[in-house]
Amino acid sequence: MSDARKKVLVFRALPPDQMARLQAAHDVSFADPKKDHAAFDAALAEAQGLIGSSFPIDAGVIAAAPKLEVVSSVSVGVDNYDLAALHARNIVLAHTPGVLDETVADTVFALLMATSRRVVELAALVREGRWDRNIGEDLFGFDVHGKTLGLLGFGRIGQAIARRAALGFGMPVLYHARRPVDLATQAPELQGRANHTPLPKLLARADFVVAMLPLTPQTRGMVDAALLAQMKPGAIFINGGRGATVDEAALLAALDSGRLRAAGLDVFAREPLPLDSRLRTHPQVTPLPHIGSATHETRHAMAALAVSNLLDALAGRRPAAVFDTAAS
Ligand code: DGY
Repeated sequence: MSDARKKVLVFRALPPDQMARLQAAHDVSFADPKKDHAAFDAALAEAQGLIGSSFPIDAGVIAAAPKLEVVSSVSVGVDNYDLAALHARNIVLAHTPGVLDETVADTVFALLMATSRRVVELAALVREGRWDRNIGEDLFGFDVHGKTLGLLGFGRIGQAIARRAALGFGMPVLYHARRPVDLATQAPELQGRANHTPLPKLLARADFVVAMLPLTPQTRGMVDAALLAQMKPGAIFINGGRGATVDEAALLAALDSGRLRAAGLDVFAREPLPLDSRLRTHPQVTPLPHIGSATHETRHAMAALAVSNLLDALAGRRPAAVFDTAAS
């Protein structure tokens, strides 16, 4: 245990009260590497603790931080971190699981509703003064309630989506995961309502396929042309996990061919989405700027957990949420 003041580098802005918690215990500097790389590099050389998100902490960054003891990510996803390089140096990686599940599930459900009921497109019709008669069948949407939901990934967030679908919208839920989840102990309310299902069967049956996959070597590009071709004709694809799990060209081809009705995307292979990406303007795509957890309440809770994780690790205590870099 140690209560000595250490050097902490904050690389993405934290709420003032969370910044104050850090400053009370340690010598804190702030540098946004996307705006001031020189200041980031200078602080990195001395930093024992690093906290932030949305910037790749790769092997080069880690090598430039010889005193680093802990990296605390204000995110649940850890695909921005070179896990092997952290593991090799015995640097603790902490993250923020749990506090964002319900909010991300809300976002995914917003995309389900928006795509199937054509909410964004029809709001534009009103805004642009094109609502000049009762809408006809050509602008009708499709029901969400009672339809079948297929989930790729069934962690905490997948289960929160399943609860909304099964309990709120009467939707049968099929899920694909490496192994079945013991619903009796982990999510009793989903017993008999969510079923572990082989991928081909899930794809053939689901009206909505929702990807909630972490980005790993195994999941990169997993939603490819072959997988999309197995989806039910007219199905809707939603991605709330990581963009690079999807072959975006294959997704565009499936939308262009009419095989898929629509896609709701909160995440993209490149973020921010490049201006020349067809996913930005495609009429069947509802694109969001990676807002899964972006509410005032949840981003604050994530920052508070990340700060607690950092303070614990720098004091020699085990943080509440450590990511096991050895298992990667
Ligand atoms: C996460 O926490 O990983 C979300 O995607 C926000 O980055």
